[in-house]
Amino acid sequence: MKKQEYIELAKSLLETQPNQIALLSNASAFINDTVDNLNWAGFYLYDGKKLTVGPFQGKAACSTIELGKGVCGEAALKKTTLVVDDVLSHDNHIACDANSRSEVVVPIFINDKLFGVLDVDSPVKNRFDQELVDFFEAFVDLLTKLIDF
Ligand code: SME
Repeated sequence: MKKQEYIELAKSLLETQPNQIALLSNASAFINDTVDNLNWAGFYLYDGKKLTVGPFQGKAACSTIELGKGVCGEAALKKTTLVVDDVLSHDNHIACDANSRSEVVVPIFINDKLFGVLDVDSPVKNRFDQELVDFFEAFVDLLTKLIDF
C-alpha cells in the first residue's frame, strides 16, 4: 500500500465536507474500499460517558460500549492504538460479527478530548501489520484536522 497516496486521496474526498455524518460515512466507505479483507470499518463516538456506534460499513453492530470494555473501550481508555491479531484469544473483545478474527482500534482525540474511535475488523487472523496500522493512524490524524468538533 502506498500510504501517502491513499491519504491524499482521502483528503481530496473528505476535505470539502463540513457535515460530520457525511464525512465519517464517506471515511468508513473509503477504508472499506481501500483495504482488502475487512468485514467492518467504522466509528464509535464518545458522548462524554460512553461510546455509541457511528457511521460504518459492515453488519449491524452493538450500539453502545462503555469505556474500558471491548477493544474499542480499552483503546479509548488507554489512549492508544490496539491491534488484536486473534480476537478469539483476547478476553476483552466484544463479538459483534462472528466472522471477525482480527481487529485494530485507533482512538481519536481532538484538542486533547476523546472524540471516538476508528474500529476496523477482518475475518482473517493477523490481518493488521505495521504498514496498515500506520495507514489507519495517518487516516485518523487527517480526520482530526477535518472534523469540526
Ligand atoms: N469488537 C469491538 C466491538 C465493536 S465491533 O467489532 C463492530 C470491541 O471489542 O470493542
